[in-house]
Amino acid sequence: MVQLNYNERSWAIDVIAEIKKYLANKSVIIKNAGGENTLKKSKSTYFPDVLLFGDELGNSILQGWELKMPDTPITDPELIKNAREKADLLGVNSFLLWNVSEAVLYKIDDEGNHKIIKTWNDLNYINTREIVRERTVEWKQTLHKILDDLVDYFNRGEIRSTTIIDSVTGEGISNFILENVYLVADCLKQYSATNVDFEDEVFIWWDTVRVEYPNENDPWQPLAKNILISWMNKLLFAHILKNFREEAAIIDKIDLDTKPAEAVNIITDISSKCDFWNIFAPQLGEEHIPSSVWEKIVHYNIFLTDLKLESVGQDLIQEILQSTIYRTHRKLAGQFTTPKKLADLLVALTIKNKRGNVYDPCCGTGTIARAAFDLKVESGISYKEALQTTWASDKFSFPLQMATLALTNPKNIGEVINIFKKDISDLKAKEDIKLSNPVDGSEIIKQLPQMSSIVSNLPFVRQEVIKKLNPSIIKNINNKIKKALGKGYQLKAKSDLYAYLPFVLWDLLKDDGRLGIIISNSWLSTEWGVEFKKALRKFFHIEAIVTSGKGKWFNNADVVTNILILNKINPKADSLEGKEISFVTLTEDIINKEYNDKNLINNIARSIRTKKKDKYLNIETYSLEQIKKIDELGITWSALFSNCDWLFEITDKLLPASKIFDIARGERRGWNALFYPEPGHGIEKIYLKPVLKSSRDIKGYTATANSEAFCCTVSLQKLREMGHLGAYNWIKKFENGVNNTGQPLVEVLTNPQYSYWYSLEPKTLADFVISMNPDERLFVAKLETRSFVDQRLIRFTANVQDVDMDLVHALMNSILGLFFIEALGFGRGLGALDLNATKFKRDLKILNPYLVSKEQAERIKDKFSKLKKRGTLPLLEDLNCGIRKEFDDVVLRAFGIEKYKEQMERSLKNLYNIRKSVCQNN
Ligand SMILES: C[S@@+](CC[C@H](N)C(=O)[O-])C[C@H]1O[C@@H](n2cnc3c(N)ncnc32)[C@H](O)[C@@H]1O
Repeated sequence: MVQLNYNERSWAIDVIAEIKKYLANKSVIIKNAGGENTLKKSKSTYFPDVLLFGDELGNSILQGWELKMPDTPITDPELIKNAREKADLLGVNSFLLWNVSEAVLYKIDDEGNHKIIKTWNDLNYINTREIVRERTVEWKQTLHKILDDLVDYFNRGEIRSTTIIDSVTGEGISNFILENVYLVADCLKQYSATNVDFEDEVFIWWDTVRVEYPNENDPWQPLAKNILISWMNKLLFAHILKNFREEAAIIDKIDLDTKPAEAVNIITDISSKCDFWNIFAPQLGEEHIPSSVWEKIVHYNIFLTDLKLESVGQDLIQEILQSTIYRTHRKLAGQFTTPKKLADLLVALTIKNKRGNVYDPCCGTGTIARAAFDLKVESGISYKEALQTTWASDKFSFPLQMATLALTNPKNIGEVINIFKKDISDLKAKEDIKLSNPVDGSEIIKQLPQMSSIVSNLPFVRQEVIKKLNPSIIKNINNKIKKALGKGYQLKAKSDLYAYLPFVLWDLLKDDGRLGIIISNSWLSTEWGVEFKKALRKFFHIEAIVTSGKGKWFNNADVVTNILILNKINPKADSLEGKEISFVTLTEDIINKEYNDKNLINNIARSIRTKKKDKYLNIETYSLEQIKKIDELGITWSALFSNCDWLFEITDKLLPASKIFDIARGERRGWNALFYPEPGHGIEKIYLKPVLKSSRDIKGYTATANSEAFCCTVSLQKLREMGHLGAYNWIKKFENGVNNTGQPLVEVLTNPQYSYWYSLEPKTLADFVISMNPDERLFVAKLETRSFVDQRLIRFTANVQDVDMDLVHALMNSILGLFFIEALGFGRGLGALDLNATKFKRDLKILNPYLVSKEQAERIKDKFSKLKKRGTLPLLEDLNCGIRKEFDDVVLRAFGIEKYKEQMERSLKNLYNIRKSVCQNN
């Protein structure tokens, strides 16, 4: 005879039924119980057997229970540990264990320790599982007592509940799923070894996004994380959708018997009936999940079934969606997502006509599209119209899932959401876009309207990868620029992807359309930025450039970003006379800091539009004529965030540095063993010159080269004739040598700029030197004796005889000299300054030493000698030091420009602070 086994599971199901019955007509804080699905469909090692809910619809979770038969001791450490983990998972601070004979209530205190606060042991005579069923009346009585007591505890606030939102989107469950990233990453990697098509797809994605993951060397973990987040989002959204569409109820079918591929089919089925394709679309690699991880995902789904999200209210749904987005952002924090407040500022600055169409073509998780939607709704536009006039697309499907969630609102379920998958470089004005019909998921076609505003945080793709990812964009855009502006115009090959995109987007804008983009700051100061600026200014009026003066907007060490606000113009027709560009510095961290002032961002946007300085921002405006002069001076646009008007007054005191120096990078001859001989070489003294091998060897304003370089421009034959056998033999030693790739040195070192393959030319000996990446200390060092310098240094080799080089050295280290160094460079993500020898050669200006009388020169040198004695200091300390102040006074007085000193100092400090501000929140 088959004996029906009354086990833990059957008892737990009876307990849940009894709790519901007991509570049915009561008006107490515990409203309902759940967990039956978990019990029926799984052995639930992850979620509690019984869940107590705080109201009928289950909006709050009060507590989880673990139920055992009497043969498991209530003190079983495994049982306690397991129950504790489940409480943490849900985010509640209590749990209850009950093995029929005894029940105990645990509370978790603020320090995270759990201890028993109540015990019920009147059933301790039930000590075997066989008699549990026959003692139903008794255990039910105890159950009622437990419930009554718990009501007291909850009423007194001694134990705390959690909301469904916090539980479902909180840390506990996120960590529960995301702690499996490594396992999934490994599984994906292994699968890629068997499927090269998959591997190729993954790497196309990775090439585009890798800059946003500076700490990752390969795509597997980021991809695994995306996949896990995507599964959580899909399941949660499908459960929410049950509110609106009964077809979504099949999500409850995903249980422990369901394989990932079958789950994908169930979800695709839901999407085909209820739309939201962008949320439900299959993600790259999502089926390749190890079974242990899949089991957890399924348990999560069963838990969601128990929560009965189909009957929660609309406000709660809205909150759950918001929190899901927030959770996703938090988990991807600092990678490609745009901080919400930055998105708010971008849209507030860009969108002038709130009724017009707005579009984010690289929408990622949709933060910017959502900010645009909110701006519309806040200004009184209906939800429906706001949705109809908001557009977003991305090249990849994972972000589209999030973007769709971001624009989904219970009030607009049933409306078409204008989100689609598209590579920005393939976009055409007015093209037909495939969207999906919310009623039945069928395809509908809408024409992409010309946009009033385009707002986007553009992808950061370096030039090396563009050819691989967007092969046609370079040619197409250069043709477009040439066609509009003439043959001389085209972007430099070194331009990053974002340099091409404004010209793609130009076509999609209405004639008076506006473009607001977040891009890296590299264009302000790089060589390729010069061409970019030229072309940009023909297609757009640059209205404002916004930078951070405090803290970085993104958590990525390599990239510093700006907002750029542009107005579309006709390259042939529009006159820009009288137009100005605003350079805005945010002086407070209004992007990443927490604060409650909801209007702050809008107020700041208004100040920027009306060019009003306030405590949050500094604005400098320049006319286009002034900008032209700045460009002629070679000053980078980064300098314009501080007031540079004084510069226009002193131009007649300046001299291009290239008039007295040859400026270039230090030596890079390519075979150190030959050119930098180790002691014992036997080379004659006349062929040895000093070499400064590293910026670390520069200890102050005067530098000493303490290594030797082999410098010979004499033929081998002549050397032998002269009996200079030390040098001769030295060269011979390398004559038959090969480099690391096996090529003969004689071949690889031959270069028309050098007399012989073994030559270093004395004309590249440096008089002055500056590091290519100075950080806090800005200064030009003079070499004690002319020396070769390493390639990480910029060398200045005097090519005139008629100037006093000590005077020049002093002038280059004056406040104005330092300003020019800072203003020609470009701030790196870690706060160091990036200097470029070619730019220095072309653009560096110095105070003209020919304008100084002998007496003035002596006075300057005298003060400078004190500065030299003092040594170099970090810039801000340097500028505050009395010795420096006296020195600068004498210099500026000699040129009659002392009245600008304060402005110079402000400009220099400002520029320096903007560069260093990136370190403030690292
Ligand atoms: C910096 S992120 C945008 C972040 C977004 N605003 C957010 O908050 O999530 C750049 C986005 O551009 C997308 N992308 C990269 N290359 C693209 C291309 N060629 N066409 C369209 N989108 C692209 C990436 O997938 C990424 O989502």
